[in-house]
Amino acid sequence: MTSTYDVLLRRLQAAFDLVAPGADPVLRQSDRGDYQANGVMSLAKQTGRPPRDVAEQIVGLVDLVGVASADIAGPGFLNLTLSPSFMNAQLGVLLGDARMGVASASRAKNVVIDYSAPNVAKEMHVGHLRSTVIGDALARMYRFAGHHVIARNHVGDWGTPFGMLIEHLVDLGEEQAMASLSIGDLDSFYRAARTKFDVDDDFKERSRARVVALQAGDAETRRLWSILVSESVAYFAEVYTKLDITLAPEDVVGESYYNDKLDDVVRDLDQAGLLVESDGALCVFPPGFTNRDGEPLPLIVQKRDEGYGYAATDLAAVRDRVRNLHGDELLYVVGAPQAQHFEMIFAVARLAGWLPENVRCEHVIFGNVLGPDRKMFKTRSGETVKLVGLLDEATERAYAALEERHSDLSESERIHLAVQVARAAVKYADLSTERQRDYIFDLDRMIAFEGDTGPYLQYAHARLRSIFRRLGSTWNSDGASFALEVPAQRHLALGLLAFPEAFELALAALQPHRLCVYLFDLAQRFTAFYEACPVLSAEGALREERLALCDLTARTLSLGLSLLGIEAPDQM
Ligand code: ARG
Repeated sequence: MTSTYDVLLRRLQAAFDLVAPGADPVLRQSDRGDYQANGVMSLAKQTGRPPRDVAEQIVGLVDLVGVASADIAGPGFLNLTLSPSFMNAQLGVLLGDARMGVASASRAKNVVIDYSAPNVAKEMHVGHLRSTVIGDALARMYRFAGHHVIARNHVGDWGTPFGMLIEHLVDLGEEQAMASLSIGDLDSFYRAARTKFDVDDDFKERSRARVVALQAGDAETRRLWSILVSESVAYFAEVYTKLDITLAPEDVVGESYYNDKLDDVVRDLDQAGLLVESDGALCVFPPGFTNRDGEPLPLIVQKRDEGYGYAATDLAAVRDRVRNLHGDELLYVVGAPQAQHFEMIFAVARLAGWLPENVRCEHVIFGNVLGPDRKMFKTRSGETVKLVGLLDEATERAYAALEERHSDLSESERIHLAVQVARAAVKYADLSTERQRDYIFDLDRMIAFEGDTGPYLQYAHARLRSIFRRLGSTWNSDGASFALEVPAQRHLALGLLAFPEAFELALAALQPHRLCVYLFDLAQRFTAFYEACPVLSAEGALREERLALCDLTARTLSLGLSLLGIEAPDQM
């Protein structure tokens, strides 16, 4: 189907084009009228004419017959009111559309999304939680839009710390090391290695030799290294299952994958005349980057000791994603502190000709997770908070809340539901703020069944499903049409028609947050409708109409939540 927004936009665009080709009508839903076009003002500026004149001209030109009436307000706002017959027709199409009006992309793009990316033998912290949850929502949204998503879990599986980690593994014995890693005891493993490295000179020496052996490809060292990697990756996979994340084992393409591509990176940068030796290191100085003293800032590609680092790997990854994966879009869902790193990587890749102009490359930044004291979220003893622990705690609370509400759930139903509610609470809290902003991790607020929370939206959905359960027989929409005579019905209907543009806006801005705002608003429209309009006790056509509105609302909530990676249980 063509979404309501697109129908209106096309017709307005045709009129705007007649005045000034390509002028943006700036159309959106609004409380005045149903939709508002705000593009007249800039069109007036562009043509040097009074806004109201231009507005009148547009109203004269635009073909809105059968769709809407258009009124001019204020300095040149165009308020559009949809006709009842048009709304009825659009809602009727929605009843049979599993995509709730969202069109599928006419050309599927390859979208490479780099997300999650924890580090081997290190605990996943709340920063990785954000990357995982936001990245997975974006992946689901892109897939739904009809694109081909290639997820890249760029795990940190290489570098100098692996010398000490391997030696620690040798000291512990493989069996014991594996046991502690597989239960996710990554941080104490890492810390023990680090402590020995700091106090024990002999251990330090062995660790250094180990790094050399690892880089030289020594078979036994590689075998020990791969134990660390595979145990950690298996543990990460468990966390993904717990969180219901779509990342698969084959999406793990860690830093080490690029090792044999790094020589080429350096050679090609050199041939392009971009490489400069500075303090014994090989660097690129992309224009426009300076340090605090105004001096040019280097991107260090090869360190003085000839080792490659994080930057070289990311350069190789950009190349791989363009050349081999044929990425049309490269997205990096990584915390804000790495902003400069990515700006420099993208700049150097463009200079080197590895990143064509038409490839969109974006660092999808997110803010910090803060504790109740507004400082970085840490445990009382100052350690990083374990992701899994948070989820378990959320599940326990959800279980208790469900126990209070319901006596008719079986034990296993309640446990299953508690898991779904806990995931919703944690994910929605993360997704529902603009991602660039910090947010406070407050389990009580996140898990509440009231307010702008995941469980609230799940509950709204379940409440809708319960209406159909109480109906006693299966319902189909054959007899439904939409007269929308009660304002609350019309208000809800407008909300339903707005799903496509909310989704597309969220996707274009890479802001799952916008989808959250939409869903919360829809749930509130439903609540107002439900208070004003009895459903099951209504009769005849009115009952069919209201049931159809309930059906559309339930399906929109469920689809919207699924795009955020949140399940919508039928019963709560
Ligand atoms: N492992 C890194 C970290 O924990 C994140 C990697 C992000 N992705 C990338 N291509 N650099 O900070």
